[in-house]
Amino acid sequence: MVNRRDDVYGSDFAGRMRFGTEVVRAVRAAVPSDFLVGLRMTGDPLTDDIGLGPDDMLEIARYLDGLGAIDLFDISGGTGATLETQAGTVPPDTFDRGCYLPLARAVKDVVSVPVLCAGRILDAEQAEQALAAGDCDLVAMTRAHMADPDIVTKLTAGELDRVRPCIAINDGCIGRSYQRLTVKCAVNPVLGHDELDRPERATTPRRVVVVGGGPAGMEAARVAASRGHQVSLLEAGTGPRRADHHRAQVTAPAASRQARGLVGQ
Ligand SMILES: Cc1cc2nc3c(=O)[nH]c(=O)nc-3n(C[C@H](O)[C@H](O)[C@H](O)COP(=O)(O)O)c2cc1C
Ligand code: SF4
Repeated sequence: MVNRRDDVYGSDFAGRMRFGTEVVRAVRAAVPSDFLVGLRMTGDPLTDDIGLGPDDMLEIARYLDGLGAIDLFDISGGTGATLETQAGTVPPDTFDRGCYLPLARAVKDVVSVPVLCAGRILDAEQAEQALAAGDCDLVAMTRAHMADPDIVTKLTAGELDRVRPCIAINDGCIGRSYQRLTVKCAVNPVLGHDELDRPERATTPRRVVVVGGGPAGMEAARVAASRGHQVSLLEAGTGPRRADHHRAQVTAPAASRQARGLVGQ
């Protein structure tokens, strides 16, 4: 049990909701009436240790919605209460893709405003499915944007196969953040390095040979090509097998554990 207070901020449900209620009302009062107020909350703390389960979260969502001060519920999972459950707040690849959609769906059934879901929604197809199924009204795709900030531009242009997927290993982004290091991204070297973004065209285009088609080699080839150089990327193997190898470097880790099993990774 996290809230052990026995004063007006504890004891019963109304007491335990008092602090949150005061915050929500204060925020609502501080912004113009056309300013959208969203509330991020877990739909399931993923532990029995804090005295709150999924049903409690639904009761809380219903209550907060009843205040009439919230325009959007932003649903995720896990909780910062323990280190173990903290991991669930940014679900790594050991969690299923779209792992918190059932939680968003449950909240959607008890509140009167739109519900957003955050939790390993990695690509447009998955996002469309979630929206079409009515699991949520909006998707977050936080790390998907960190891995590829141009994701929306590429999707709008119909270039689905050019999107660089998040692999959900977490070492670059939230893992570094927990160590008080600058947030970076394992598949997007530009993140945190604005000086590397949009490299200038080379004044003298050259022929560039990159040996090795791992992540570093592919990125070097991509950047050199974007600068206008003529790039040859050399990798062991030939034909379709080689292309599969390059693709698997990025897409296999991006899939869920179960999907990786299917492709024998
Ligand atoms: C580097 C980083 C920082 C984050 N900081 C916060 C935060 O301050 N508050 C919060 O509620 N969620 C935070 N999150 C969690 C995201 O809002 C989101 O719920 C989570 O990444 C799962 O969504 P995704 O699978 O689309 O990335 C953070 C995530 C990352 C990767
Ligand atoms: S560091 Fe890894 S988990 Fe984080 S956004 Fe980049 S690819 Fe995704």
